[in-house]
Amino acid sequence: MTPADVLRRIESVSALVVGDVCLDRWCVYDPDLTEPSRETGLPRTAVVRTETTAGAAGTVANNLAALGARRVSVLGFGGDDGHGLELRRALERARVSTEHLIATETPTFTYTKLLNAKTGAEDLGRVDFLPASALPAELERMLANRLRETAAGFDAILVSDQAETETEGTITASIRRVLEEIAQRHPDKVIWVDSRMRSEKFRRVIVKPNEREASEACRRIGLTDFRALRDVISHPLMMVTHADRGALVLDGEREVWAPALRVPNPVDICGAGDSFSAGAALALAAGASALESARMGNLVASVTIRKKGTGTASPDEVLGADRDDC
Ligand SMILES: Nc1ncnc2c1ncn2[C@@H]1O[C@H](COP(=O)(O)OP(=O)(O)OP(=O)(O)O)[C@@H](O)[C@H]1O
Ligand SMILES: [Mg+2]
Repeated sequence: MTPADVLRRIESVSALVVGDVCLDRWCVYDPDLTEPSRETGLPRTAVVRTETTAGAAGTVANNLAALGARRVSVLGFGGDDGHGLELRRALERARVSTEHLIATETPTFTYTKLLNAKTGAEDLGRVDFLPASALPAELERMLANRLRETAAGFDAILVSDQAETETEGTITASIRRVLEEIAQRHPDKVIWVDSRMRSEKFRRVIVKPNEREASEACRRIGLTDFRALRDVISHPLMMVTHADRGALVLDGEREVWAPALRVPNPVDICGAGDSFSAGAALALAAGASALESARMGNLVASVTIRKKGTGTASPDEVLGADRDDC
């Protein structure tokens, strides 16, 4: 199947993204308007313009929608607060449904990035809004139930497990169990997992770590090679991305490389993994082979790393990248 065939078929694929969703607030401040506050004497930061985008699981969802998937929805939580409202609007602008974004008292994960209007540089510390504790039990139950109820209606489920702390984020042990149940009940459904710190804890799903994450997962459970990790996870397919080297595809008995495209001066490689996941998981759900899907992942990532921020790729841009590479 050529990339053009895959992109045509993607138009009929529906996808659910489950996981940690956050709001990125890009705040442009004018350094000329910095003056001491009358109350505290401390210099203020004068924000004159704000743009909002959905991050983490939201970045994956934005990428799926930009590639033309028929329906994209996010399952996670957002605070019942102003940032939650901005998050919903940002997702809906990108054609991502928020019907499964559960509103909670837990504040919305929010990253505030301060960009200097004169230079465009992010030269002040971020102001972040982080939940103070682990996922409340009641919220975890709601998320697990919603996942059970909705999974059957989607061709692909993409899991974004971004929490880099010992306490898990949205993807807890009970959510992992529900994913395993879904995998057993629907063996043909593409369930694709990107987990920064817990790849080895998933079962019967396709895991996509990068090289470092895969090595660390192996080390945590005393394994020495990726194939053994894939066998513990108990799914025939695993893809390990290797930045500018592309992706190593472990598919049954085969181990093959899908080489990355040559991008001499990438502008921003942040989110490359999310773009790869979106392209490859949609391609698999569209019926492409493992290698064709990894190629689609590489193509999508090669477009987004040429853009500032966590960009997305349209079908035309993907086809353009494919033509340039041939
Ligand atoms: N410098 C590069 N040149 C070409 N392609 C790249 C480059 N960096 C990343 N990619 C593409 O992006 C894919 C994912 O990259 P990588 O292995 O760095 O993911 P990651 O570490 O999960 O990224 P993230 O920072 O989003 O978590 C690669 O398989 C490749 O297709
Ligand atoms: Mg990654």
